[in-house]
Amino acid sequence: MSDIDAMLKQLETIRQQAVEVFAAAQDADALQALKVQYLGKKGELTGVLKGVGGLAAEDRPRIGQAVNRIKAELEAAIEARAAVLGSVADAARIAAERIDVSLPGRRRPQGALHPVQKGLDELTDIFVRMGFTIAEGPEIETEFHNFDALNIPPEHPARAMHDTFFVEDGGKEPMLLRTHTSPVQIRAMQRFVEEGHEPPLAVVAPGRVYRCDSDVTHSPMFHQIEVFKVDRGVSMAQLKGVLQFFLSTYFEKDVPIRLRPHYFPFTEPSAEVDIGCVFCSGKGCRICKGSGWLEVLGSGMIHPNVLRAVDIDTTQYSGFAFGLGVERMVMLKHGIPDLRLFFENDVRFLRRMGG
Ligand code: PHE
Repeated sequence: MSDIDAMLKQLETIRQQAVEVFAAAQDADALQALKVQYLGKKGELTGVLKGVGGLAAEDRPRIGQAVNRIKAELEAAIEARAAVLGSVADAARIAAERIDVSLPGRRRPQGALHPVQKGLDELTDIFVRMGFTIAEGPEIETEFHNFDALNIPPEHPARAMHDTFFVEDGGKEPMLLRTHTSPVQIRAMQRFVEEGHEPPLAVVAPGRVYRCDSDVTHSPMFHQIEVFKVDRGVSMAQLKGVLQFFLSTYFEKDVPIRLRPHYFPFTEPSAEVDIGCVFCSGKGCRICKGSGWLEVLGSGMIHPNVLRAVDIDTTQYSGFAFGLGVERMVMLKHGIPDLRLFFENDVRFLRRMGG
């Protein structure tokens, strides 16, 4: 057998082997390795070409042509196999990703009102149903509205007791974060008088207040509701009646109440209001410290100096006022031991509160 026949035979053997192993390649990496093995620079086909130098000059083109033909065939075979492997891989991926349309949908978690906001709404609502009008005032207040007009002059010790946050704004009037909602009494009465109305006036004013104070029962920001009424012949008896109705409605039972003499600069007489302990029904427990009573709010008859500060005729009119802490009311109603829970935003707490 001439050299050229031997070389052609060798090429044919390589071709057959290559076609077989390409068709058997299991993945793209294996196929690439085989491509290098057969068609690469140092591959089997090139290896055969090296022997071309020993051939007669007229035979060389035949080998060249044969190598080119086989190379083209093998490249086509590689591409065909690659296409098969590719679609197998696609199919596997699609199978793995398959969407099961029968699965139940994913529910979006539903938001809810914060327990303090719910308390505010619930408390305010009770007064709205009694005919009180909602009023609001600014959280950044003047000293005049927060203190002076409420019969708390500059040197009054009550100013120190309020742990006030002052705000520096460079304006001529000292500003502060209101320490209570009582300045809304002043603003609402001022507006009412300015608009030329005559009492009766009955207002509920919910809102945020600030005091530099922080522990289990105090937070530097908390919420109050201010309630007041001005009319002819408003009396302590009316105050007590409104309180009794309001507290029984809020706690959803006939809670006993008592008024204890107290002092507020803006009411005279003043009283702190207690309810019979909602945890032990007045028998005495850890929460009411054995007294059977829980303090819930401050109240009194609006001081004549306050009415005078807003030009309401004290010979004609009198009023009652009270203010309560919203967080405290929600804590008592739901047996929440620590005020800070309201502001930590732990969803376990919020969920238990119906959020
Ligand atoms: N403003 C008082 C406080 O924050 C509460 C209060 C309001 C008392 C109205 C009497 C009348 O402590």
